[in-house]
Amino acid sequence: MVTNTLSSPHIVQLLDRLFHEAEASESALQAVAQSEASRLMTSRTAYREFYGLLREIPLPVSRETGALLYMLTRAAGAQSILEFGTSFGVSTIYLAAALRDNGGGRIITTEFESSKIARAREHLTEAGLIDLVEIREGDALETLGHDLPDTLDVVLLDGAKSLYADILDRIEAHLRPGSLLLADDANRCPEFVGRMRSDTKRYLSVPLTGDLELSMRMC
Ligand SMILES: C[S@@+](CC[C@H](N)C(=O)[O-])C[C@H]1O[C@@H](n2cnc3c(N)ncnc32)[C@H](O)[C@@H]1O
Repeated sequence: MVTNTLSSPHIVQLLDRLFHEAEASESALQAVAQSEASRLMTSRTAYREFYGLLREIPLPVSRETGALLYMLTRAAGAQSILEFGTSFGVSTIYLAAALRDNGGGRIITTEFESSKIARAREHLTEAGLIDLVEIREGDALETLGHDLPDTLDVVLLDGAKSLYADILDRIEAHLRPGSLLLADDANRCPEFVGRMRSDTKRYLSVPLTGDLELSMRMC
């Protein structure tokens, strides 16, 4: 029988609660987005300050993106996943549920806000998925600079948008032909998207609805 961790009642209830909390924080998010601070969002130097203002705000992927992550991970038979940007762990739950249903594996996820890491750990524990997840605390530019698995099957980029190309530099040697990358808010990282679309020998890359970029390593 095919296992479907994502439809387990406790995970359905947990995700409903987390998306509900995210909706409830929408006005706080809008206040930051409309303030002077929004200019920090795409800064290559002030991203830490920007995300500090958002430390109480969940910022999860959409339900559709979560479902897509689950499907890609299952379809790829992935066992090794890297996530840039954990926040409260919503996308991590989708990825880890798929890993569980693939028979196991490991997700390395990265977050620099310690209060968010505590929340993500709670949620992944409640989901019964924490055993599949390694949360690296600190700036991903540093925490992803060492001890990566030989190959990464699926990568989610959902941290500071200005850093997607720098994160790619750190992980690129671990991608294999067939590795999948999903970048959220792709319009805010033209350098990354440009690399994915112009290096046509190495990558096949398409924009998807919801401002996602889906790319596959070709060789
Ligand atoms: C959009 S949220 C991630 C949402 C998460 N993927 C989800 O679906 O629940 C981005 C997160 O990345 C974190 N972040 C941004 N830049 C980072 C960096 N350089 N290193 C570590 N974490 C970072 C922020 O603190 C924030 O919590």
